Amino acid sequence: MNLAVGAKLLGVGAAVPANVVTNADLERLVDTSDEWITTRTGIRARRIVTENESASGLAIEAARDAIAYADMDPSIIDLIIVATSTPDNLYPSTACMVQAAVGASRAAAFDLEAACTGIIYALAVGQQFIGSGTFNTVLIVGVDIHSRFLNWEDRNTCILFGDGAGAFILQAAEGDNEILATYLRADGAGAHLLWIPNSGTAYPHAGTTPPKAMHRFLQMNGRAIYEFAVNAVPEAVRAACAKAGIRVEEVDFLVPHQANHRIIKAAAERLGMRPEQIVSNVDEYGNTSAASIPLALYDALKRGQVMPPATCALVGFGGGLTWGSAIIRWTAPDRRDLSAS
Ligand code: ACO
Repeated sequence: MNLAVGAKLLGVGAAVPANVVTNADLERLVDTSDEWITTRTGIRARRIVTENESASGLAIEAARDAIAYADMDPSIIDLIIVATSTPDNLYPSTACMVQAAVGASRAAAFDLEAACTGIIYALAVGQQFIGSGTFNTVLIVGVDIHSRFLNWEDRNTCILFGDGAGAFILQAAEGDNEILATYLRADGAGAHLLWIPNSGTAYPHAGTTPPKAMHRFLQMNGRAIYEFAVNAVPEAVRAACAKAGIRVEEVDFLVPHQANHRIIKAAAERLGMRPEQIVSNVDEYGNTSAASIPLALYDALKRGQVMPPATCALVGFGGGLTWGSAIIRWTAPDRRDLSAS
C-alpha cells in the first residue's frame, strides 16, 4: 500500500444493551424453535435495546471503552467516523453526538453507511486520512439497532439480529503499518436482496399519504444473501491478503461479520482455515451489523483466544450489496488490564 504514513491500532471497545432476548423468548412471539434457530444460524441469544436506549448511546459507550483500552486523552482525536445504517436521526450525524460526549474537542465527525460492511469501509477511510498525513488519530465506531426495523411477526428476519456497538482507534505510526491492506467492493444490482423499504425519502410525505412508514421493516432474501456471503468472504480475504503481500496461510484469525455461524464456517473452510482460527460470538449476540466485527474481536481478546501479536483478517458483507476485508496486525495491549495487575 503506497501511503506516506502507516496506521497503528491503539484500542478496541464494545457496548451492548443489558436486555437479553433468548431463542425461548422468540418462541413466544413467532412460530419457531430454539432448535431451528440454533441449527440454522448458531444464534442462541441477542441483546435488544429498551425504549430509552439509542444508537448514539451505544456508540458513545463503545467509544469510551476503546479510549480507556488505549488509555489516551480524547482531546487528541482528529476525526470520528461512525458506521451505521440506523442513526438516531437523519441529522445530526451520530458521529457528532459521539464527538461531544467523549470530549474529542478538536475532532471532525461524520457518519458512513455501508450496512454490515460499514466498519470495514470506515477502517479504510480512516487509514486513508492517516496515510495522507491529514489526521493523526481517528476513532471509528460501528453501531446498529436493527431491532427498531424488524417485524417481530416475521420469523425469517426477527431471529437473526441483535443491537450493539464496537469501536477502534487508529493512530499514525511512521514505519509501522498495522492495517496491512483493505479491499472494498459493492454491487448495487443486489440492492433488493436486503433492504429496509420506506425508511428514507423515497416515499411521499407521511402527512399527506397513508403511513407507509408503518411498513418500514427489514426485508431479506435469506438464501440469496447466504449464497452471496459464502462467496464474498473468501474472495475479499484472498484479495486483501494479496494486496498485503501475505499468503492466506499467514493469517492467524478470521474475524468475520457475525451473521450466521453456517456462513462463517463454510467461508472458513473455503479458505482452508481451522475452526480454532475462527473468531465468533454470534451465539451470544446475533447479527449486530456494523458493530459485529469489533465486538467479536473484543470478546476474543478478552477471553484470550486472540493474543497479540496476531494477524487478523477482518471481513464484512451486507446490504448494498457491499463486502470488504481488512488485514490487520493486532499488537495493542489492553492498558486497563495492565494498570490493574
Ligand atoms: N423458525 C422456524 N422455521 C423457519 C424460520 C424460523 N425462524 N425461518 C424460516 N423457517 C422455515 C422456512 O419457512 C422454510 O420452511 P419450508 O421449507 O416449509 O418453506 C424452512 O424453514 C427453510 O427455510 P430456508 O430459508 O431454506 O432456511 P435456510 O436454511 O436457508 O436458513 C437463513 C434461513 C437462516 C435466513 C439463512 O438463509 C441465512 O442465514 N441467510 C443469510 C441471512 C443474513 O446473513 N442476513 C444478513 C446479512 S448482513 C446485513 O447487512 C444486514
